[in-house]
Amino acid sequence: MAFVSEGDVSFYSTFTYLAQTLLQTHPEVKVQTIPGVCSPLAAAAGLGIPLTIWNQRLAILPALHAVSDLETAIATTDVVVLLKVSSVYEQVWATLKQHGLLQQSYVVERATLPEQVIYADLSDRPHLKLPYFSLLIVQVNRADLG
Ligand SMILES: C[S@@+](CC[C@H](N)C(=O)[O-])C[C@H]1O[C@@H](n2cnc3c(N)ncnc32)[C@H](O)[C@@H]1O
Repeated sequence: MAFVSEGDVSFYSTFTYLAQTLLQTHPEVKVQTIPGVCSPLAAAAGLGIPLTIWNQRLAILPALHAVSDLETAIATTDVVVLLKVSSVYEQVWATLKQHGLLQQSYVVERATLPEQVIYADLSDRPHLKLPYFSLLIVQVNRADLG
């Protein structure tokens, strides 16, 4: 039996719960994990940018429960990735505007798929209607490539 996951099965995937339940009910089963490319890395590749370099700190927010979570990430890290951004995009956009970060923010829809869409510089995009498979990358402190 195989379980196929979007991206990587070890990165915020339902597979983790499924495997745990399976192993509890059928301890004789052997679970083998085949690694994939998780969406932040796939999105960075689509954008043609490194996700992080040098000593940059990275925060990944799997869901935004409060704007203060984003504020904290912006204040304490260099690169922020927001998963499941589609339902909170307008709030996120307003926060990024307050912090002057819209020009260094990117949205990638359906990374690696033929339908992939990229928005670089969100300044003029306060109302994007995004699909579930979208994420947002903020380069809070752009790295100096020398
Ligand atoms: C429950 S998480 C699953 C993450 C997945 N296991 C991974 O490795 O990326 C679902 C979220 O991941 C992001 N995501 C997954 N696949 C994506 C893709 N191809 N393009 C953009 N975002 C994606 C979206 O933010 C989506 O709401």
